[in-house]
Formats: sequence, structure tokens, C-alpha cells
Amino acid sequence: MRRSSSLQAALSPAKTASSTVTATPVAEEVVQEQVHKLVVRHTPLQIFVCDEESHFYSQVLEKLLLRNCRDTRARIIEFGAGDGTPVINALLRGASGGCNFGDSMVHGYELNPKAAAVATRNAADMGVAHQYKVHNSCFFKGAATTDATWLIANPPYIPAEDDNILMPALHGGEDGANLTRDLMTLGFENMVLLLSAYSNPVETIEHARRQGYRVTDFMVTPLPFGYYSSEPKVRKWIEGMKEEGKAYFSRNTYLLAGALLQLPARMDEDDNDDVAPSTPPPAGNIVPTPLRIRRASREEGYKGRRPAVPCSAIADDLTDELIAVMTALK
Ligand SMILES: C[S@@+](CC[C@H](N)C(=O)[O-])C[C@H]1O[C@@H](n2cnc3c(N)ncnc32)[C@H](O)[C@@H]1O
Repeated sequence: MRRSSSLQAALSPAKTASSTVTATPVAEEVVQEQVHKLVVRHTPLQIFVCDEESHFYSQVLEKLLLRNCRDTRARIIEFGAGDGTPVINALLRGASGGCNFGDSMVHGYELNPKAAAVATRNAADMGVAHQYKVHNSCFFKGAATTDATWLIANPPYIPAEDDNILMPALHGGEDGANLTRDLMTLGFENMVLLLSAYSNPVETIEHARRQGYRVTDFMVTPLPFGYYSSEPKVRKWIEGMKEEGKAYFSRNTYLLAGALLQLPARMDEDDNDDVAPSTPPPAGNIVPTPLRIRRASREEGYKGRRPAVPCSAIADDLTDELIAVMTALK
């Protein structure tokens, strides 16, 4: 199914939920059983806990990373692994849905020693330690030396005047998007990032665009304000941001997007300009945007594949659409 441009479709929780069902019922059951074993409870003051959000991040990784990345030796780096369950679940579900992760490797970075230890144990318990290694270290230290071409993250995005909040490690700066914008300046060719509608989404997406990124795919889910964003000091701050046009939500619901951001320059290095995906995505999946056809068409002649609309219009299409969706709730 092509991703619909309809706002209603984008806001529908059913779209997100149904799009994850890619495996046979039997395989799905097995994965669910495995996933449940990972549910080790911690207090939300020790380790980041928000099951709905982590589950959505896992779905986003499955759809936007595993199904778009056709390199079986991909190098992937993660900001803030938490307890590791989103990546582990995506790997398990991806494998049961026929994804060939091959020799690809995710290096997760997590500052919180307790979370990093739990994530490492979970990866080992679930048999994916050879695909997911969690380092108890600052992400930016790892990013300085990595050769990864993919960055994935559910970054800290709680906005507040300072980091004196329930979990300081979740502070995303005054508008919640400082860290996200920092990630966008590191030059990774592909990024899968969660973006919150109450954390200055318009300026954040425009910042990505200024760095050369285009949104080539996205998923959105509505979420209720959770434990960390409901802290009175934070909630009051977010209400103030709404008045300034930097936060979008209605009553107790905000939108969380998972976006695939890619640098078009990446296509210069790719000598295969044929855009047909090698395998069709399963029903309900989002078809990867054929960015390569735009590149080839613009600089090498159309070769019989003239796009129906101007290349520049296509290139900006999903970026603008994501902005429209993220500002939909008032
Ligand atoms: C919103 S949580 C996401 C956790 C997990 N990925 C998930 O979705 O369930 C963000 C995580 O980033 C971690 N973190 C914050 N700053 C970090 C840094 N500089 N380097 C590595 N991890 C960091 C926090 O400790 C927290 O676990």
C-alpha cells in the first residue's frame, strides 16, 4: 500500500498497529512470546519506561530501517538504547517477517549504566547479541569514530527550562529538540528519528532540511502525555510553547512521528539508478520513496523514466507533509 497523503490516515492509530503485522500468525505468536520475556520492570526513575512509545519506536525501526535498508552489512549506530527492547523486538520481528539483516550490526550507546546493563543482558537472552551491542558510553563519543551510515534514535525530547526534571537524561533542551538537532548535524546518510509534536517540530524539520535531509518516509501515532511529560513543571512549559507555536497537541494527546531522513547526496555514490525495490513490501507496509529516480532524472537525463511531477516538488513532498501532520493537533 502506498503511504496515503490523507491526514486522517496518518493520524489513525490503526494504521500504525496494522502495518506491523507482517509475519505469519504462528511466527507472530512466537515473537510475541519472546518479547514478553523481556518485560523486566524498573521504576521509571531508574530507566526510561514508556511501553507505548518504545513499542512505536520498535515498529518504526522495523518498517523504516529494516525494510528500507537493503545493505546486509549495514553499520548502524543508536543514540540512547534504554533497556534495548525496541531494537531487539525489531530484529526479532524483522527476522520472523523475512528481513535479511545479514551481517549488519547495531551499536547502541546508552549513558545510564543500569539501562545499558539491562539492554546487554536482554540482547544476550534473546539471541541477538551478535547483531546488537550496547555500549555504556555517551553517544557522541561513539559517533566521533563510527563508520556507520545509519543513525537511529528515540532521543530525549522533554522540553523544560532546565534539566531539573524527573529524569534529567530525557531533557531535550528548552524546546525539547536540541539533541535532535545536534544529531541532524552529524552528517549520517540515513537517520531514523522519533520527532515529537510538542518539541518544536516545525523548526526541527526545517533544520533537517537545511542540513540537506529529505523526509523519505514516515509513520505517526497519537500518544497520551506520559509519566515524564505529565510532570507539572514540564506540562506547564509545554503549554507555554503551544502559545508560541512550538508545541502541538490537543487535551492529553500529542503526535509522535518516526521519520526516515536521507541525504540525497548519498545517491551520487550509488551506481545502480534502477529504482525498483528487489522485493515488494508486504501489504500495509510503506513503500520506500524512490529517491534515486529523482537523482538520476535530474543529472543523467530521464532515460525513459520521466517523473510525472518536477523532481524538486517530489523531493520536498514528504518533508512538507510531515510538517503538516505534526502541526495538525491544536
Ligand atoms: C527517550 S529514551 C529512549 C530509550 C529507548 N531507545 C526506548 O525507546 O525505549 C532516551 C535514552 O537516551 C539516553 N541518553 C541520554 N543522553 C545520552 C547520551 N549523550 N548518550 C547516550 N545515551 C543517552 C537516556 O539515558 C535514555 O535512556
